[in-house]
Amino acid sequence: MVSHDVLIIGAGLAGMRAAIEAARQGLNAAIVTKVHPVRSHSVAAQGGINAAIGENDSWDAHAFDTVKGSDYLGDQDAIEIMCKEAPKDILELDSMGAIFSRDEKGRIAQRPFGGAGFPRTCFAADRTGHALLHLLYEQVVKCGIGIYEEWFVLSIVIEDEKVCGIIAMDIRTGILHRLQAKAIILATGGYGRVYRNSTNALINTGDGMNLALDAGAPLMDMEFVQFHPTTLKTTGILVTEGARGEGAYLLNSIGQRFMSKYAPNALELASRDVVSRAEQQEIEEGRGIDGCVLLDLRHLGEEKIKERLPQIRSLAIDFEGIDPVKEPIPIKPGAHYSMGGIKTDLSGATKVKGLFAAGECACVSVHGANRLGGNSLLDTIVFGRRAGISASIYAKENNIKEFPDYQLKETAHSIAVITNRRQGERGSVIRDELANIMIKNVGVFRDKERLFAAKEKIKELKERYNHVYLEDKGDIFNTELLETIELKNLLTIAECIVLGAINRTESRGAHFRLDYPKRDDETWLKHTMFYKKDDEIKIDYKDVAITKHKPMERKY
Ligand code: FUM
Repeated sequence: MVSHDVLIIGAGLAGMRAAIEAARQGLNAAIVTKVHPVRSHSVAAQGGINAAIGENDSWDAHAFDTVKGSDYLGDQDAIEIMCKEAPKDILELDSMGAIFSRDEKGRIAQRPFGGAGFPRTCFAADRTGHALLHLLYEQVVKCGIGIYEEWFVLSIVIEDEKVCGIIAMDIRTGILHRLQAKAIILATGGYGRVYRNSTNALINTGDGMNLALDAGAPLMDMEFVQFHPTTLKTTGILVTEGARGEGAYLLNSIGQRFMSKYAPNALELASRDVVSRAEQQEIEEGRGIDGCVLLDLRHLGEEKIKERLPQIRSLAIDFEGIDPVKEPIPIKPGAHYSMGGIKTDLSGATKVKGLFAAGECACVSVHGANRLGGNSLLDTIVFGRRAGISASIYAKENNIKEFPDYQLKETAHSIAVITNRRQGERGSVIRDELANIMIKNVGVFRDKERLFAAKEKIKELKERYNHVYLEDKGDIFNTELLETIELKNLLTIAECIVLGAINRTESRGAHFRLDYPKRDDETWLKHTMFYKKDDEIKIDYKDVAITKHKPMERKY
C-alpha cells in the first residue's frame, strides 16, 4: 500500500502552503485533490490579502479591526497570531515571486477594504487568488510534492483513536484506493453551494467538514455564513470589495447612496454583514431594481478600472452585458464564506490525533461571526503554514499505523448501495430544493418561523436522499455519483447551519435574527460546537478567548 508522512486533502492556498512546509521539513508529503490544483476555489479570490506592512499601520490595529469585525466572537489569541505573522508571510510570498500590484514608490500597493481602519489589503489587480494559487503551485512542483489529482476522498481511517490514512476514489477510473499517512491535513475549502446564490465554485460542498465530523472532530460556529454584498445578478459571481475600496459606491432605485443611512462613517466600506443587510433591506422595502441594487464605478474612469479592476470589468461584460465604465452593475448579496468549520487549535490540530485542518474548512477562529475582506487569503497562508509545521512534527513523532481492511469494504458497500439502486429520485432535484430553502429561509435575515421550516425541509430531504438513484452506472468520471456524495455532505452542513441558527437567539455578525435583533453577550458570547453521534448532530458550547478587547457596541 502507498504511504506518506503527511497527506494534505485539498490543493487551494491553505493545502499547498501546508504541503510546502511539510516538504521543507524533509517529509514525504502528498496532496489529494478533487480538481487540478489551479482550479481550486482560492483562484476566485479577487480583492486581496491583508497585512500591516504600511508605514503607519500596526499588527495591533489589524487585530482590533478583525476582533471588531468578528462582532467579538473571534478568538483573540488566534487573531493576534494571524495579524502578527501576516507581514512576514506576505514578504515571503513576494520573494517567491508573487506579482503584487505596486505603488508609485515600487512598494506592494495596499487598498482600503471593508471594516479596516487602514488601507492594508495587498493585491494583484483584482486577481489576487489567481496570482497566489499559481505561485504556490509552482512551489509545490519545485518541491517535488506528489499530487493525486482528480481523486475524491471518501473517508478518513481511524485506528486506536489516531488517523492511519484515507480511502479515496480515482475519479478517472472509479477505483477505490487506500493511502496510508501518519498525519492528515484537511484543506478542502467551504460549502457555499449549500445556497442558491453563491460566489462559490461548484466544488465547494463542505467535503472536508463532513470527513472531520465522521472521524470524530467537531465543527464550530456553523451558523455564521458570510453574504458578500456584491455578486452579479444572474450568476452570483463575485464583484470584488476592491471595487468599493477603489471608490465605487452603491445606489438604490431612486439614485440614493443609501449606505449613509446604515453606516454613516464607513459607508460602502462598513463590514460585509452590515452592507449586505443594508442592501437586502433596500431591496425588501422596494428600493431595489429587479432584486438588486447598483454598484457604480463610472466616476473611477476607464483607465483606473482597466488597471485595478480588469477582471470584474470583463465579468460584468461577459455575464451581464454591462460595461462598468459606462453603466452601473446590478448586484445583490450572495453566500460567500463559511466563518465556521472544523475546530482547530492554534497549530491547526483537531480533536482527533494526527488530523489537522486549515483554511476555510477550518475554524481556529479568526473570523468569529463575520470575516473581514482580505483576511481569508491571509488565514490560508498563516494557518496553512502552521498546520504544515505541526502535522510534520506529529508525523516525525509517530509511526505509520496498520490499516484495517474492513473500512475499504464498508466504503465500497456504501457506494454500491447508491449505484445498484434501480429506481428512486434524482439527486439534482434534492440539491435544488436544498439550495432554494437555504437562500429563502437561512439567508441574510432569519427568524424562528423560517428556520424551523428549513429544519423540517432538510429532514424531508435527508429522508428522500435515502432513495436517490443514478442514471450513470459507469465507473469512469461518474460525476453523477460524485454529486450524490457531495449532496449528502451539503445536507449535513445545512442541518448544522440551521440547528446553530435556531438555538442562537441573538443577532451577531452575519447571523441576524429579526426576532432577536440585538447582540446578547450575557448569554451568547460563546462558540457553538457540533458533533456527530449515531448519525445525529449534537450541539454544545465553548467560551470565546478574549485577551485585550472587551466587547463593545460595533458601529461603522
Ligand atoms: O471582495 C473580495 O475581493 C473578496 C475578498 C475576500 O473574500 O476576502
